[in-house]
Amino acid sequence: MIQNSVTRAVVIGTGHYLPERVVPNSAFADTLDTSDEWIVSRSGIERRHFAAKDERTSDLAAQAARAALDNAGVGADTLDAIIVATSTPDYTFPSVATMVQAGIGADKAYAFDVQAVCAGFIYALANANALIVSGQARRVMVIGAETFSRIMDWTDRSTCVLFGDGAGALILDAQPGTGAPGDRGILSTDLNADGRHRDLLYVDGGVSSTGTAGYLRMQGNQVFRHAVEKLAQTAETALEKAGLGARDVDWIVPHQANIRIIQGTAKKLGLPMEQVIVTVQDHGNTSAASIPLALSVGVESGKLKQGDVVVTEAIGGGLAWGAVVLRW
Ligand code: ACO
Repeated sequence: MIQNSVTRAVVIGTGHYLPERVVPNSAFADTLDTSDEWIVSRSGIERRHFAAKDERTSDLAAQAARAALDNAGVGADTLDAIIVATSTPDYTFPSVATMVQAGIGADKAYAFDVQAVCAGFIYALANANALIVSGQARRVMVIGAETFSRIMDWTDRSTCVLFGDGAGALILDAQPGTGAPGDRGILSTDLNADGRHRDLLYVDGGVSSTGTAGYLRMQGNQVFRHAVEKLAQTAETALEKAGLGARDVDWIVPHQANIRIIQGTAKKLGLPMEQVIVTVQDHGNTSAASIPLALSVGVESGKLKQGDVVVTEAIGGGLAWGAVVLRW
């Protein structure tokens, strides 16, 4: 008989929050030389949510956090740590995570932000896993929350139609495992970065450069080329580390940037689109929030079930990219 020999970080709850205001593609055609047809055919995006003027990233994050606590049936006072992945914080400091900690009353939790742009949630998940398996925390809230509408150049049709606002959260709990791939929880992580490609996707402002927040700039077709190749590669590496193959996968939950990237990656992995959770049509690209949003929607829709093998993968500015394999 195999003894319980390792600690696994197991998902015990998910939740999400989307701002009330829904903006359809047609709204952009009034001011820009674009069309619903172009946006849908090139990106798969049909609509996105934009935060209200007085709604901040920490508000979205706290709402998602409350939903995840409700879903898990646990209190905020049971959290040991809160990690928020975001590139659009309320302030330069303090972190969004500390604002969430105060907002939800997680009195015992330490809290910090992670910034890896669209790969932020993958990085945050990998770090939460490290805290749990090393015994530094038993219960960790991991949140992805963004207000990308605040860094859009509304005159740039090649970027402003692609992004949206939102937040998703999940709660990880330390539970005993055997060390085998049949365990529930995070089975492997794979993180990568290549800062030589920073000019492909960046924000042209910041504290120590311009002193302004800046606007998002992207060479979309170049990012696209890197995305399909690197996402399939990192997913395969993570699966190998987990002792699993593509045939063992129940769901791919990819970063939701572009339906063609999602399709291309699934094809490279040899998996049909029926096994991919897709929300890009409704949310647009919500950067670090996109994967936890898709996971939460996947649970709500009844697709994601306990015991399912899930591969999550994302790439974003940096470039930074990675994948996490977990058994739900
Ligand atoms: N409406 C109409 N035409 C447009 C629009 C628009 N909204 N935007 C661009 N175009 C035009 C371009 O000007 C170009 O015209 P030209 O040929 O006359 O120069 C033409 O459409 C084709 O442009 P491409 O950029 O080559 O189009 P592509 O098929 O590559 O699609 C897109 C663009 C959707 C941006 C795609 O490249 C993409 O999704 N890239 C990846 C984005 C991504 O994954 N980002 C990842 C992470 S994001 C993060 O980390 C924050």
